[in-house]
Amino acid sequence: MNWKKKVLLGLLIGFIVIQFIQPAHNNNGQVLPTDITKLYPVPDRVVDILKNTCYDCHSNNTRYPWYSYIQPGGWWMASHIKNGKADLNFSEFGGYSIRKQQNKFRSIAKSLDEGTMPIGAYTIIHSLQNSLALLLPKLINCAAA
Ligand code: HEC
Repeated sequence: MNWKKKVLLGLLIGFIVIQFIQPAHNNNGQVLPTDITKLYPVPDRVVDILKNTCYDCHSNNTRYPWYSYIQPGGWWMASHIKNGKADLNFSEFGGYSIRKQQNKFRSIAKSLDEGTMPIGAYTIIHSLQNSLALLLPKLINCAAA
């Protein structure tokens, strides 16, 4: 076997081996009493958008896309979820102090204004992000009322 074949075989074996290292799934299947939708009268359309574009990384329930079942896709996803939830968790929003909630509302609006969220590959869903940017001020008004 020449060295090129050995390298390819090594890579293939490595790829197969890492498939067995699946990160734990972020899915408790429940809507907690601290969920933002239980605290504030969030309009259905906004809930849909939050669930479709933000909850995957900012809640306790991620819908896993196909590539997350193939490593290192799942690890990539898991690290986004870990960092995303550490900064902002819509499922546990009610656990934040009012001051922290208000700060989070501000940074949500800012992230949408500046187009920094959702990150990376998720920005493909541009039209959804734009509609959220339009709806978010309404959400914030509801929250402030
Ligand atoms: C693919 C995963 C992912 C998605 C989807 C996503 N985020 Fe994030 N978000 C992150 C990560 C990771 C961070 C941590 C900071 C960083 O790495 O940029 C973050 C940070 C944030 C922050 C900063 C929180 C703070 O304390 O300042 C806000 C606000 C935010 N996201 C809002 C949103 C909103 C609103 C959506 C939906 C439109 C969204 N994100 C969708 C991964 C994601």
